[in-house]
Amino acid sequence: MNKEIKHVADEHLWQEIISQCSFSGEVMFREVMKMHTSLKIGGPADVFVFPQEVISLKNILTALKRRDISFMPVGGGTNLLVRDGGIEGIVVSLRDCRRIEVVDDAKDMVSLFVESGAPLQKLVSFAKENGFSGIEGLAGIPGSVGGAIAGNAGAFGYSMKNVIVSAVVMHADGRLIKLDAEELGLEYRKANIPADSIILSANIRLRKDIKEDIAKRMEGFLKEKRERQPLSELSAGCVFKNSAETSAGKLIDEAGCKGMRVGDAEVSAVHANFLINKGNASAADFIKLMDAVKAKVLATFGVELETEIKVVGRG
Ligand code: EPU
Repeated sequence: MNKEIKHVADEHLWQEIISQCSFSGEVMFREVMKMHTSLKIGGPADVFVFPQEVISLKNILTALKRRDISFMPVGGGTNLLVRDGGIEGIVVSLRDCRRIEVVDDAKDMVSLFVESGAPLQKLVSFAKENGFSGIEGLAGIPGSVGGAIAGNAGAFGYSMKNVIVSAVVMHADGRLIKLDAEELGLEYRKANIPADSIILSANIRLRKDIKEDIAKRMEGFLKEKRERQPLSELSAGCVFKNSAETSAGKLIDEAGCKGMRVGDAEVSAVHANFLINKGNASAADFIKLMDAVKAKVLATFGVELETEIKVVGRG
């Protein structure tokens, strides 16, 4: 972060930058991130902008770049823990860029253009309604398409990796960079997104299939999710990554962590890899609970859990 703009007191400077750069879209100052995360945890971001279209994004990014100010992209905030001190500087959301279009309709396959701000479930519903198969296992996963790409979201053997043909990112200097599937390097909960860039859109390829069959598969996965995961609680999904050998949830459960609690942060009794906010958990509570779970699993099984959720912000 540039030294020029550091604190909320510099709001007028942010206003100046934004008003000078021909920006359309919502702008929020000192917006508490708990309003924008599925965990409902997180302090204020100095500035939070929601460009209405790509040109506004380009204008704001290049204005920031000229002043050597970095930015933080966020998707749906569903795999995110923001610390209680909030986020220094500017957060960018493409929530308002959410088009989904069929761009190529061949005999058995279709190609879709999807903007990264589209909710992943909007894409899943689009596929279901039109009889496009390939993302059934993603039914019920919250968040945006951009976030799903950045974290290669997946479940039940399905993942973004299976359907992505390419993605376009915008670099901080305003350049558009097209990355093919190989360059994106999607692996388990991982993608190679170039530094200082934000995912704009993707091309995905789906297979045509019978609508009822697709709906049935989705319903089956949703049923499993409802049975195995605490979907009605505030969470960021699974907190720790699975290892090649075993499920982190199983380890946390067998180490006896279910029900462990720090403040209002609790290890779910339904699925141990879901740490939930029972109401007023702070990020500090949540992080203490994560550390306690890690320590217990390490002491019990000698396994070091790796964090899956993204933890950001000032302490
Ligand atoms: N298990 C327990 N106790 C628990 C939770 C799980 O013993 O508290 C056992 C289950 O009985 C099962 C095994 O662990 O034998 C695996 O559990 P589950 O099928 O629920 O899958 P998972 O490995 O815990 C993964 C993903 C989920 C995804 C599901 C379904 C990770 C970290 N988790 O969970 O993804 O929804 O498979 O495919 O990769 C996420 O990433 O946020 C997420 C929720």
